[in-house]
Amino acid sequence: MRNIKIFDTTLRDGEQSPGCSMTLEEKVEYAKVLEKLNVDIIEAGFAASSDKDLCAIQEISKNVEYPIITSLARCNKNDIDKAYESLKYAKKKRIHVFIATSEIHMRDKLHMSREEVLVKVRQMVSYAKSLCDDIEFSLEDATRSDKEFMAQVIGVAIESGANVVNIPDTVGYITPMEYKDIITYIRSHVPNIDGVELSAHCHNDLGMAVSNTLSGIEAGISQVECTVNGIGERAGNAALEEIVMALKIRGDYYDADTNINVSEIIPASKKLVDITGSVVQNNKPIVGGNAFKHEAGIHQHGVKQNKATYEIIDSNMLGIEEDNMVIGIHSGHHAIIDKMKSLGIRVDDSKIDEYVSTVKEYLAEHKSIDDDTFRILFTPKVKIKK
Ligand code: KIV
Ligand code: ZN
Repeated sequence: MRNIKIFDTTLRDGEQSPGCSMTLEEKVEYAKVLEKLNVDIIEAGFAASSDKDLCAIQEISKNVEYPIITSLARCNKNDIDKAYESLKYAKKKRIHVFIATSEIHMRDKLHMSREEVLVKVRQMVSYAKSLCDDIEFSLEDATRSDKEFMAQVIGVAIESGANVVNIPDTVGYITPMEYKDIITYIRSHVPNIDGVELSAHCHNDLGMAVSNTLSGIEAGISQVECTVNGIGERAGNAALEEIVMALKIRGDYYDADTNINVSEIIPASKKLVDITGSVVQNNKPIVGGNAFKHEAGIHQHGVKQNKATYEIIDSNMLGIEEDNMVIGIHSGHHAIIDKMKSLGIRVDDSKIDEYVSTVKEYLAEHKSIDDDTFRILFTPKVKIKK
């Protein structure tokens, strides 16, 4: 099985999205959570963006032992110097240099020609390499870039010292088959690509970030960039938990796995919500409130006999032990009676239809029913307030 490295950018791409900013203390606290999760690389920030960011990267570096710490830099000397300074306490360090390669970004944002971009890449990647052994180079907006030019830029970056090359879908534009084709093209058209780590970094504007990342893995990528809960610019980045669990559950197909401690996924997701206040939708895969819950009678009946009828992920793997049966308007009498028994409510077999009607009447007016309401409904003489 291939090992896929997890490059977590929750503290950089994630943190720079609306509503997700963190204080220095929160960043350090969360970096420790990522270490417990066992990510391979933590992108701790963008040092040149502010002194606060630079300090936060230094503090994270002091407090984290095992993952590589990386700091982002544009293709200029000042950014690279700041990134290097921010990493001075890191036990394992990487400078992450990027420049845009799409026509629209080069023309309207950078105001640079292709030739100028190539010169910058050569100069700045070499400069970063003179400071640090581990250099990642990213082609911003790679998926809207001309393929031949992209191959040329990658060739120069590798000649200048990049050992990791990242292919971002910066604006979430690409489709899975196209992303696979781009990676395949790079692998066969960049002569010095052997031995270089290829990385995927996909945004979720069309809801395809995880699919695109997985396509990248199929095409030979060995590092994936992602965030917990998929937080990130606009519609977010590829969600770490979805990639990790897709590989775990469909290892038969991908023949690849990560080093992530899956039992730490839910705590990491909850901690991020606590820190940022940015909530996760109930139907979000893996970490959503409903991801392992069943309300419909047919599903509940199936799961009670064999969980695998409607669950492809064993929730115990993720440390979820709580009851996954939810009583709702679609539940059948089996689930309602089981619930009553589990709460110690005495069940008279001749009154089952009556119990079911009572619960359904309550649910016709309320969206859900909790354990206390069950107890009140079936405790004689106590009247329920409607
Ligand atoms: O989305 C992107 O292109 C980025 C790069 C800076 C890696 O975040
Ligand atoms: Zn990004």
